Amino acid sequence: MQGLPSKLAQNLEKRKQEKAFRSLKKASSLIDFSSNDYLGLASSKKIYQQTHQILIENNLLQNGSTGSRLLSGNHKLYDLAENFLAEFHQTEAALIFNSGYDANIGFFASVPKRGDLIFYDELVHASIRDGISMSNAKAYKFNHNNAEDLKIKLKKLLNPENSEVYIVTESVFSMDGDMAPLKELAGISEEFDAFLIVDEAHATGIFGEKGEGLVQELEMQNKVFARLNTFGKAPGCHGAVILGAKSLKDYLVNFSRSLIYTTALPPHSVATILAVYREFKIGIREIEQLKNNIQIFKNEITKNRLQRDFIDSNSAIQSCIIPGNEKVKNVAESLRKGGFEVKPILSPTVSKGSERLRFCLHSFNSENEISEVLKKLAKLMA
Ligand SMILES: Cc1ncc(COP(=O)(O)O)c(C=O)c1O
Repeated sequence: MQGLPSKLAQNLEKRKQEKAFRSLKKASSLIDFSSNDYLGLASSKKIYQQTHQILIENNLLQNGSTGSRLLSGNHKLYDLAENFLAEFHQTEAALIFNSGYDANIGFFASVPKRGDLIFYDELVHASIRDGISMSNAKAYKFNHNNAEDLKIKLKKLLNPENSEVYIVTESVFSMDGDMAPLKELAGISEEFDAFLIVDEAHATGIFGEKGEGLVQELEMQNKVFARLNTFGKAPGCHGAVILGAKSLKDYLVNFSRSLIYTTALPPHSVATILAVYREFKIGIREIEQLKNNIQIFKNEITKNRLQRDFIDSNSAIQSCIIPGNEKVKNVAESLRKGGFEVKPILSPTVSKGSERLRFCLHSFNSENEISEVLKKLAKLMA
């Protein structure tokens, strides 16, 4: 078998030297402070059974979707699920993509055009950055959650030749767990006649009265041009949706390559999305349990005098900064030995010096687990 070309081998070697080499590990059975399954729905028997029921009721006993949505793959569950999602999220239209990654690249590669400007928070997810890099628009980052910096940059860089301006943020940031100043960003969007786009991956199923996300919690659904909600995190399944006007959906169906040139999700995946959202609509107690656990975790941070190490956050993501890849890996390994799965996030995923332990909290974590893991962490940090 042929080996790697030398440049690639060098890249791998560099990763090892920087203690940032990644490898695929088996999912562990330790106490879960690392998965995105915030509400435990990924293993919900009820959702599993309801999904099965939806498939039977719709006579969709098939394993695959058989083609792209524009060819043979647009099975009838898509319509059912998209109508349900649009109503639940109080928007005109919903368009399901195969994943959040696909949705972001499909959106940003096709919507902003040459001559347009994109302003994005410096900490937005890799999928947004990748989408932006596929676009012909000019893109500028603004300082994290800093509306003032955004405004200064808009004033400096806008000129009459620019046609459209897009402002991009996450509502809850995937690595820091903090929240964007959405109201301020919406005000700036209005002032500069810009289009606001919000990625709600880590707010879906957590914020809002029934898990609608932060945009709806703040009653801002009419102030954003597009929202991205993903299903692989709190909803515990797979896929993502772009929410917006009917005309935006029409546009994406015609021009978004990651929707057009790929096989559609199988009926089972879309049935699971529908089953989860039907439960959201009824109201599920796991959301309240998760919110309690976030509060318990924050109280324990204070009790253990760890406030200065943690990034302030009211979400399910709580990050403890431990600079240096080797150091943060060692702390994570010690916690593993104590029975806790907490993932170290290394540079270059985050910037050098801001390496961290990223705690993902869940509805099913017990008070005792939370208190024990932070006690152990405090000892390791002492
Ligand atoms: C903010 C954000 N957007 C998009 C994605 C991509 O979603 P998916 O995992 O469905 O591809 C992620 C996943 O980590 C994310 O954190």
